Amino acid sequence: EAIRRKEQLRCHDLAARYYHHILMNTEAGVPAMRYLQERGLTLSTIEEFQLGYAPDRWNILLTFLKKRGFQEGFLEQAGLLSQSGNQPGRYFDRFRGRVMFPIHDGQGRVIGFGGRIIGQGEPKYLNSPETELFQKGRHLFNLHRARQPIRQRNRAILLEGYMDVITAYQHGIKNVVAALGTALTSEQAKILQRNAGEILMMYDGDRAGQDAALRSSEVIAATGGMPRVTVLPDGLDPDEYLKKYGAIAFERIVEEGSVSSTAFKLRMLRNKSQLSSQEGVIAFLSEAVRIVAEVRSPVERETYLRELAGEFNVSLESLMQEMQMTVSQPK
Ligand code: GTP
Ligand code: MN
Ligand code: MN
Ligand code: MN
Ligand code: MN
Repeated sequence: EAIRRKEQLRCHDLAARYYHHILMNTEAGVPAMRYLQERGLTLSTIEEFQLGYAPDRWNILLTFLKKRGFQEGFLEQAGLLSQSGNQPGRYFDRFRGRVMFPIHDGQGRVIGFGGRIIGQGEPKYLNSPETELFQKGRHLFNLHRARQPIRQRNRAILLEGYMDVITAYQHGIKNVVAALGTALTSEQAKILQRNAGEILMMYDGDRAGQDAALRSSEVIAATGGMPRVTVLPDGLDPDEYLKKYGAIAFERIVEEGSVSSTAFKLRMLRNKSQLSSQEGVIAFLSEAVRIVAEVRSPVERETYLRELAGEFNVSLESLMQEMQMTVSQPK
């Protein structure tokens, strides 16, 4: 068991080094290098993140690792090779024609990869499959580099994608991690809470990102945390925002533009409500009161209700009553 695990770590380490070498030093890596530089990454960032390239060939990695004594079946179980559907026993490289993002565990050992296609194509990102080594829900991209900065600032910033994290890091914002292309799990939330008093989420400004932020904030709240959410303007993601406006604007929006998860939920609800009709306003308020009812602190609840009362010209008392009814008759 322990030996098997060690061998899986070893083949991941070798694969990461090999993909990195191909990117840095070979003709085959040139288009990938150009792609990364066009996206604004410096050589030192590419080095630090050990980015790589998997050429568009069937058995580059297979040949490389076989020469080093690994069996094909073992490498498939490790998630580095795939097996042909109609010719069982025929193996080939899982990652082909992709820029490679090594994913590390908390101790900085490579346990998996994300691979991005250069330019357009489907799927945009291909990740390592779930293996004994790589369990997406238990790891966070960049955690081993971000842990100290997170502790120092007592704040973790959770972003959506690999490129968001890498660009932020390059801009000197180092307390950044990403979940691995799935909704945040409670295990990931707990890891963050162990290291930071505050978890701030900054997901993509598009619909998918906002929905994911909502789900993740609920996971964090359920594990006892108090997430805050920052919404970027114009549907930008953090990578795009940083390139357009820079690190100072980014830090400012973190400080001034982030809201509690309750305020974020109210904003999402507001965006999809029809506030031009009386029925719409009533439906909005009754749903809004349900959201506020979940807040633990009475003072905080009252603050939200006062705001709603003022804005929609109803009395605080009636909203309080409505909230009482909500609590006694759950949906
Ligand atoms: P870029 O286009 O390279 O800037 O990527 P992005 O991070 O902005 O992509 P997007 O906002 O679409 O997705 C956010 C994250 O979700 C990515 O970093 C991936 O981890 C994951 N993801 C995106 N597309 C796919 C996909 O096709 N398959 C899988 N498995 N994950 C994806
Ligand atoms: Mn190097
Ligand atoms: Mn997105
Ligand atoms: Mn994005
Ligand atoms: Mn992006």
